[in-house]
Amino acid sequence: MCGIVGYIGKKEAAPIILEGLRRLEYRGYDSAGISVLRSGDLLTRKRKGKIDDGLAPALRESPLTGVSGIGHTRWATHGPPSDENSHPHLDQSGRIAVVHNGVIENFARLKQRLQEAGHRFLSATDTEVLAHLIGVEYERLRAAGDPREPLLPHAVAAALREVIGTYGIAVICTEEPGLIVGARRGSPLIVGIGRGENFLASDVTAMVAHTRQVVYLNDYDVVTVTAEDFQVTNLGTETARVQIQEVEFGAEAAERGRFPHHMLKEIYEQPRTIENALRGRLDLDEATAKFGGLNMSAAELRAVDQMVIAACGTSWHAGLVGEYLIEDFAHVPVEVEYASEFRYRNPPLEKNTLVLVITQSGETADTLAALREARRRGHKVLAICNVVGSTIAREADGGIYLHAGPEIGVASTKAFTSQVTVLTLLALFMGRLRMMSPHRGLEVIRALERMPALAEQALALDGQIRAIARKYADRRDFFFLGRQLNFPVALEGALKLKEISYLHAEGYPAAEMKHGPLALLDENSPCVMLVPRGALYEKTMSNLEEVRARRAPVIALATEGDREVAQRAADVIYLPETPEFVWPLLGIIPLQLLAYHVAVLRGCDVDKPRNLAKSVTVE
Ligand code: AGP
Repeated sequence: MCGIVGYIGKKEAAPIILEGLRRLEYRGYDSAGISVLRSGDLLTRKRKGKIDDGLAPALRESPLTGVSGIGHTRWATHGPPSDENSHPHLDQSGRIAVVHNGVIENFARLKQRLQEAGHRFLSATDTEVLAHLIGVEYERLRAAGDPREPLLPHAVAAALREVIGTYGIAVICTEEPGLIVGARRGSPLIVGIGRGENFLASDVTAMVAHTRQVVYLNDYDVVTVTAEDFQVTNLGTETARVQIQEVEFGAEAAERGRFPHHMLKEIYEQPRTIENALRGRLDLDEATAKFGGLNMSAAELRAVDQMVIAACGTSWHAGLVGEYLIEDFAHVPVEVEYASEFRYRNPPLEKNTLVLVITQSGETADTLAALREARRRGHKVLAICNVVGSTIAREADGGIYLHAGPEIGVASTKAFTSQVTVLTLLALFMGRLRMMSPHRGLEVIRALERMPALAEQALALDGQIRAIARKYADRRDFFFLGRQLNFPVALEGALKLKEISYLHAEGYPAAEMKHGPLALLDENSPCVMLVPRGALYEKTMSNLEEVRARRAPVIALATEGDREVAQRAADVIYLPETPEFVWPLLGIIPLQLLAYHVAVLRGCDVDKPRNLAKSVTVE
């Protein structure tokens, strides 16, 4: 996934675009670049590497001046990270610059056709082919004496009609300096409405410092943005639907504030974000939950006889927690699928199967494809999502927003606990439509109401967890073991550690270790064991013994007052007693902190881990 930003107004464009790119850098940070228009010239600075390592020094050395421009921060798809593969890309004439988020699937054939016509390419990217295509169309329209003013939107539209694939683009041209053209299909693009200035960006966080009035463009929209206005047309048959919306958070929500990393800030935000996920959704009178956007009647929900949850990564782990809860509370069979598998697996779904997609960004390509496949088969699809106006949020039949605020750290943290909170509410809601008693419903509500305060208590363990991280930061192999609802927590703890510290970490059902993985254990393989008080406490303690017998050091997450575990584990992190069904909301916090501190101790880039991006909008 990449980030694109455009600005047109009366101020210097480069500093505004650079600031916007910094806020989007979590979307991709292999390279970055900016082009501006000034007195009929198109000036470009673009460098490999993160903004602070490449583009920012280049701009300090040789500033760009001009009141309109476009910028891009890249997560490489076609062509490795390099200066020449960085965006913006120019057309053959050098008059047109393009930044692009997405993948042009037929770029090779288009490139060959252009090369045969004498075009020379400087990069290995698909985006440069699109820039040349737009240049060819612009020249064709001009040579034909096309009277329409301005021509650039029409040249962009004509070029995009030849493109197969996904795009969110911004385009500028020296011949028509008073405008920026944007277009989207499958990648997000948003117009920010200012006073005497306007913005384009892949994500509202790039512009909330300047405006909270935004328009989320739809697929096939082409927008022409000037300093005073914007106009949307649609390449398809639909008339353009323009709806001005208010962003629900300000610029400070996307800033680190007093924290050294976005990830740590987002870990510490969790008491508040769990509260946000609960706000207005607890119905004490009916001992149930309530939602505003499911767009499904009680009768429709009662008729659901199977659910499929499709998601990726952390969201998939949250889905596994949801599976246990929905099956326990509502007795509805649930299948949890990797979205990338579901979309090709052709599963025989019952007629009344409800598909639930879970996604923080609302832009993950595999999850979007799973949604579209399910809808194509006539199934209703609900989305649990954090980004208002995102593609998945808009294409689902209904859904539930997390209201967690922007999650900037590539490693997802607050989104996971918000997703699990919402899934608990959904399981409660569906259970109370079926045979869950009011008494049990109230028990769930009371437990959820305590979670923000309990999350604060878990955060208070940060110092102890940092000490444990220091003890094990030099190890190479970690195992995270849990049973039932804690198995997905073990998977999520392992993912956190591996994706920001680059260490090998695996999550397993604790009882599964003896079926093979136990062979991997020795004194160098710490095992994080989730062993809170509960129905399977004794059995999990037996699993702990199996691990200890292989001399693997055990880091136990246990319930306050449990002295027995302290006899057997090398380290114990005590958490407050909770009902088993909310323990995942609590147990994940020490694992997030453990991963964070190990990564910091190992000198890793916590917010922008190597090879990754915040949302994977390519397959
Ligand atoms: C988790 O820490 C990762 N950043 C990644 O696995 C992420 O959860 C996954 O790509 C899904 O993203 P989404 O929730 O935005 O769809």
